[in-house]
Amino acid sequence: MDAKKLAGEKAIEFVKNDMIVGLGTGSTVYWAILKIGGLVKQGLRIKGVPTSIQTEQLANELGIPLVGLSSINQIDLTIDGADEANEEFELIKGGGGALLREKMVASISKRMVVVMDETKYVPNLGKFPLPVEITQFGWEMTRRQISALGCEPALRLKDNIPFITDNGNYILDCHFGEILDANKLNQTLNMIPGVVENGLFVNMADTMVIGNRNGHVDIFY
Ligand code: A5P
Repeated sequence: MDAKKLAGEKAIEFVKNDMIVGLGTGSTVYWAILKIGGLVKQGLRIKGVPTSIQTEQLANELGIPLVGLSSINQIDLTIDGADEANEEFELIKGGGGALLREKMVASISKRMVVVMDETKYVPNLGKFPLPVEITQFGWEMTRRQISALGCEPALRLKDNIPFITDNGNYILDCHFGEILDANKLNQTLNMIPGVVENGLFVNMADTMVIGNRNGHVDIFY
């Protein structure tokens, strides 16, 4: 059983006519977007708000009407993946590098449904290195300041050169070990000049849809 597919497709149940829907990024929400595309062809009326260039392209290919953040103040529902989630509904996101747009979209969403496979649901966040988006300008300085918080930030590379986000920034993948106070770390990181955003999502997710390899889907509210 493809647990990601199960979760992604199940989340479609939350999509209703006339909603503005935040469309997340990644290989789990991909399945939700694919289904939304099919439903739009059958007459579903929604407008999507993409969280990355990749998702924007996918939505365009599927014929999902899109709207940008510049013309809306609120999103009815966002469906997005996660790299880790705990029972407090705190998340680590940004494995695909889309964390900034994902967080902006989530921040104005009335409801955020997180889709993932069972391996992402963990007792404590932190095994997955926390992605932190930083400016290219002075990035070594920013890295030193983040190191001082007690982690070893690694500059994310792609094909041996620095990975560049959709917003033209770098990403540091930060191994903090177990993150026991996600709220505090979120705020501390975002206070560092040069940090654009970090992948901790606190008080944002409302619903978790978890696909299991045995074919079962758990939904937590
Ligand atoms: C993208 O930057 C991430 O936040 C993704 O939402 C997250 O990495 C989950 O991705 P998968 O669904 O591909 O595992």
